[in-house]
Amino acid sequence: MNQRISLSRYLVEQQRVDGLIPAQLRLLLEVVARACKSISQSVNKGALGGVLGTAGSENVQGEVQKKLDIIANEVLIEANEWGGHLAAMASEEMDSIYLVPNRYPQGEYLLMFDPLDGSSNIDVNVSIGTIFSVLKKPEGHPGVTEEDFLQPGAQQVAAGYCVYGPQTTLVLTVGDGVAMFTLDREMGSFVLTQENVRIPEDTKEFAINMSNMRHWDAPVKRYVDECLAGVEGPRNKDFNMRWIASMVADVHRILTRGGIFMYPWDKREPNKPGKLRLMYEANPMAWLVEQAGGAATNGRERILNLQPTKLHERVSVVLGSRNEVDRVTRYHLEA
Ligand code: AHG
Ligand code: MN
Ligand code: MN
Repeated sequence: MNQRISLSRYLVEQQRVDGLIPAQLRLLLEVVARACKSISQSVNKGALGGVLGTAGSENVQGEVQKKLDIIANEVLIEANEWGGHLAAMASEEMDSIYLVPNRYPQGEYLLMFDPLDGSSNIDVNVSIGTIFSVLKKPEGHPGVTEEDFLQPGAQQVAAGYCVYGPQTTLVLTVGDGVAMFTLDREMGSFVLTQENVRIPEDTKEFAINMSNMRHWDAPVKRYVDECLAGVEGPRNKDFNMRWIASMVADVHRILTRGGIFMYPWDKREPNKPGKLRLMYEANPMAWLVEQAGGAATNGRERILNLQPTKLHERVSVVLGSRNEVDRVTRYHLEA
């Protein structure tokens, strides 16, 4: 790419040339990107910025909050509440929805985020990220309620993540494929570094937390057993395994070179459909993956078709290279 295209220019062109995004959505995405830059700064400072360690509190899901979980959540709220583009926000780290305060104008969008994904990796200096999903507020009534957020992922108007790794990379879709932007720290701007991201249909790489094997359902066990059997087994090829324990980093690898990612239901907590959250983890990632030619299911159905029933709903996740996701889904449907 011989001409540098900033995120701002990319978004203006999406708005002007392709008519894909309204001005308010462009502003929203610029603001989210700015917040990610600020989070990236804190992540980079690490111990020097006093941002490591736990905060001594728990979120609504009973998980211990890290300092950076709370910092990232506050950065996203403060950046987004005053611009007039949002009606409300929801986050993994807040029990209920956050209404834009009355002193600011109200917009027509709803923003959801996992402010800091991969919290267990913060203190050990491994890649972490921010995941976000944007919906339109349903028309026809004033104010915003939690029900307004409960839309299937297929209704998202923008989704993305920012991974804080050796590079800080923002990955975005507005329904016209997937684009990647690398943060130029000297310039302070995100620069387009890949367009039309495509996930290969086949792969030899799978990602799952193998320590949960004894708790899995039969179809997941069957799939992984067949991968492990390698060239002597029914798949006739050797597989490699990766598990970063940050969904953003695992999905980023899959968007970059293919693979399959699974966080399935398991018997540890049989009443929960899975560990990951539908609205601000699975839905945005599922849309990105589909936009790059991959697939995403809960083992049986397309994730983007699922009707959420509550904000912090959990879901089983199988996503990545199309042929592998289809295989895992077929094993579930056959069982
Ligand atoms: P979060 O840090 O936002 O709670 O999300 C962590 C998620 C996800 O990023 C990752 O794939 C998974 O939890 C790792 O779980 P295990 O520790 O069970 O492997
Ligand atoms: Mn997460
Ligand atoms: Mn999180």
